[in-house]
Amino acid sequence: MEFLELFHLEINGPMVTVALILVLLALLKWYSISAFSSLEKLGIRHPKPLPFIGNMTFFRQGFWESHMKLIKTYGPLCGYYLGRQMYIVVYDPHMIKEVLVKNFSNFTNRMMSGMETKPVADSILFLRNKRWEEVRSVLTPAFSPKRLDEVIPLISQACDLLLTHLKPYAESGEAFDIQRCYGCYTLDVIASVAFGFQVDSQKTPDDPFVKHCRRFFKVSIPRFVVILILSFPSIMIPLARVLPNKNRDEVNAFLSKVIGTVIALRDKQAEEQRRRDFLQILLDARSSPSSVSTELLDNVRQDAQDGELPTHQITSNVQQKALTTDEIVGQAFIFLIAGYETITNTLSFVTYLLATNSECQEKLLREVDQFSERNAELKFSTLEEELPYLEMVIAETLRMYPPAFRFSQEARQRQPPFTYLPFGAGPRSCIGAKMAILEIKLTLLGILRKFKFETCSETQIPLQLKSRSALGPQNGVYIKIVPR
Ligand code: HEM
Repeated sequence: MEFLELFHLEINGPMVTVALILVLLALLKWYSISAFSSLEKLGIRHPKPLPFIGNMTFFRQGFWESHMKLIKTYGPLCGYYLGRQMYIVVYDPHMIKEVLVKNFSNFTNRMMSGMETKPVADSILFLRNKRWEEVRSVLTPAFSPKRLDEVIPLISQACDLLLTHLKPYAESGEAFDIQRCYGCYTLDVIASVAFGFQVDSQKTPDDPFVKHCRRFFKVSIPRFVVILILSFPSIMIPLARVLPNKNRDEVNAFLSKVIGTVIALRDKQAEEQRRRDFLQILLDARSSPSSVSTELLDNVRQDAQDGELPTHQITSNVQQKALTTDEIVGQAFIFLIAGYETITNTLSFVTYLLATNSECQEKLLREVDQFSERNAELKFSTLEEELPYLEMVIAETLRMYPPAFRFSQEARQRQPPFTYLPFGAGPRSCIGAKMAILEIKLTLLGILRKFKFETCSETQIPLQLKSRSALGPQNGVYIKIVPR
């Protein structure tokens, strides 16, 4: 008080209000930049962050282009902030291997936004630590060659539908966007393999399953809410979790109910009546966890054999714990989250590259014809071993256009030999890689036996890209198909 009297000031209401506002503003100013010293402390170069939002404006062009710009400007080890969250970008193959393989035990978990809700939060993508390890070891056998052989008829069935839809375009010679057809086809495969029933998304776009899956990808948060969440995560994330989100809740409830119904039906069926799909493999693991207990994490084993992992990381046996029904539903969602856009976009990119590189397409057509003469029946092992050029076409496409590019960006600029890992690396890499390649091969084989791709005046060359959740063509892939 004496201090205030010195300046002939009296404490009154407005003055207290002004003082409180000033303190609040000072605190807000401090808060707005308080998260932005971590990268500097680590000596990691990064663009200058703006108060509250960090480097959000840097990513206006999309993630692909912006990451390239970032690496070019700040080097192979750089960083940025999205809101208050710090990100470190590692662009050097050796360093990537250190993080994902050699020192994997320090980097087991994938980042979570905190906004994930059930059943998506139960999918392996978001599981952490021990539970991730347990579920991964339950899922690994679901992608074994034997299991993949079992899903070949299901994928082929969906591919036959795709061919039926492509036929009118081949007959009319009309140009069309093949990415749309691939989108429907991929959804048909997901319905069949992961959700346990057949659907024709191209013919019946109003089918409730098709509509809800499309809504699943449209669930988006308004930009200003994203900014609020990134700027004030500790208040906004719990709030966003409890606030109702009609679209998200309806989609989750519908898809969970679909799987619940199929599970109930399967439980009533005799073993030999049950459809051999991914869902059934998960259900088998639920009722007899011991049947898969000897199969450990695939990549961990492989990396240990290659001498990449210290042995102590693999000697401890992963204890099997059966999946709960919630977790089974969560794993069925993997196909939607991890398999829909990646496969649709890879098929679109391969088609674009074949249509614009006729010599490669001719070479591939010869391989397809020879393969078909030799093999009446489609089996995983023959598809893997006897189509080396198709394998190369897919690998080169993924090198040029990696749809999920989290750990594969280095490939676009470096020349071979380099370690190229389109499906990630180490124990937490893509569990669906073999399934993805199988599906892509079966599809291309089916199409190229009957048709070939040609460019048309609508084909966008070079292809414009968009990169939001996955890298994909910006405006579809317009081509013509010609009967062979
Ligand atoms: C061309 C298609 C695909 C590409 C390019 C791709 C790529 C990737 C990449 C880069 C990762 C991250 C790996 C890491 O963190 O190191 C990943 C993870 C994953 N992918 Fe794929 N993927 C594809 C298709 C699929 C399919 C069809 C499925 C499901 C059947 C699938 C299931 C998963 C799962 C479950 C994970 C997380 C694994 C874990 O956390 O343990 N992916 N994928």
